[in-house]
Amino acid sequence: MASFLVTGGAGFIGSNIAKTLLNQGDNVRVLDNFSTGKRENLKFAGMPPDLMANLETVEGDITDLATCCKAMDGVQYVFHQAAIPSVPKSVAHPIESNQANIDGTLNLLVAARDAGVKRLIFSSSSSVYGNAPGFPRNETIFPDPLSPYAVQKLTAEHYLRIFYELYGLETVSLRYFNVFGPHQDPDSEYSAVIPLFVKAFLTGTQPTVYGDGEQSRDFTYVDNVVYGNLLAIEAEDAPGKVMNLACGGRLTLNQLLALLRKITGSDVKAIYTDPRPGDVRDSWADITVSEQVLNYETQVSLEEGLRKAVDYFRIVFQS
Ligand SMILES: NC(=O)c1ccc[n+]([C@@H]2O[C@H](COP(=O)([O-])OP(=O)(O)OC[C@H]3O[C@@H](n4cnc5c(N)ncnc54)[C@H](O)[C@@H]3O)[C@@H](O)[C@H]2O)c1
Repeated sequence: MASFLVTGGAGFIGSNIAKTLLNQGDNVRVLDNFSTGKRENLKFAGMPPDLMANLETVEGDITDLATCCKAMDGVQYVFHQAAIPSVPKSVAHPIESNQANIDGTLNLLVAARDAGVKRLIFSSSSSVYGNAPGFPRNETIFPDPLSPYAVQKLTAEHYLRIFYELYGLETVSLRYFNVFGPHQDPDSEYSAVIPLFVKAFLTGTQPTVYGDGEQSRDFTYVDNVVYGNLLAIEAEDAPGKVMNLACGGRLTLNQLLALLRKITGSDVKAIYTDPRPGDVRDSWADITVSEQVLNYETQVSLEEGLRKAVDYFRIVFQS
């Protein structure tokens, strides 16, 4: 049994990581300020009470160093998921997102270093590539961040690397590519495209597409991301590295709409409007490094993941 801190553990990805750890019998401390995270995400229906007893929830903010230090007590490994995770929100609120995404990460690194944490895994983002030339994206491409959010993720990656080099704190940055699945918020103005589209199809409203719908994404079902994170804890050669975590394929939004029409049986038409500032045109991961370093392979295909997500959201929208 190991002891984990999951920052942002009440959010979409963090709660999926926490659930998997608890199911393995590990101790999990969640640190979250509940800005976008939800307590319902930590209820884990059907989980045996003896495993649920290993979950501790701490309400607190990573922008406070003392809170981060306290949260590290007894922790061996950290999955750092807490962030203000939206490109448009960072464009609208650059200072607030900088505080959470850079200052908060630095606080956690200092706290983890001082507590003797064995390894810290960071949730970086494909957004760091921006519109740099070269597809699929591999980690040697020179980043071209287009938004404050992308700058913040890139800066945090550098902090992780130098904490490994300067202080020996084992750190790994995983660049997620458009993750989707259960516990993702479909109701915020900053919601991601899959929950928004699924919600539109299941409720019979028209989904909005920013641009012509020919922009592409490497959509990744959340179980693949959880799996990659767990591998990153163990992989011998991972410390100090940055690597993509995705499925290694791509789909345009128009193709996504067609697939969701097939899965949901809905035929509502999309509304097309202007592209949003800061959004990248195409995103497609080369996952060779994570395959080699982590021994990662995709666990859930795109179509299977979309079916699982639709099943999940059907229940959410019926309740
Ligand atoms: N969802 C994706 O497609 C995607 C893609 C690339 C990277 N990421 C990164 O993965 C991580 C998780 O994203 P998510 O999609 O689960 O988002 P989310 O909003 O569901 O989760 C983020 C969590 O962090 C918490 N949080 C925010 N600011 C905090 C603070 N100052 N102190 C403590 N807690 C705070 C929120 O309450 C929330 O629970 C983020 O770092 C995000 O940038 C996500």
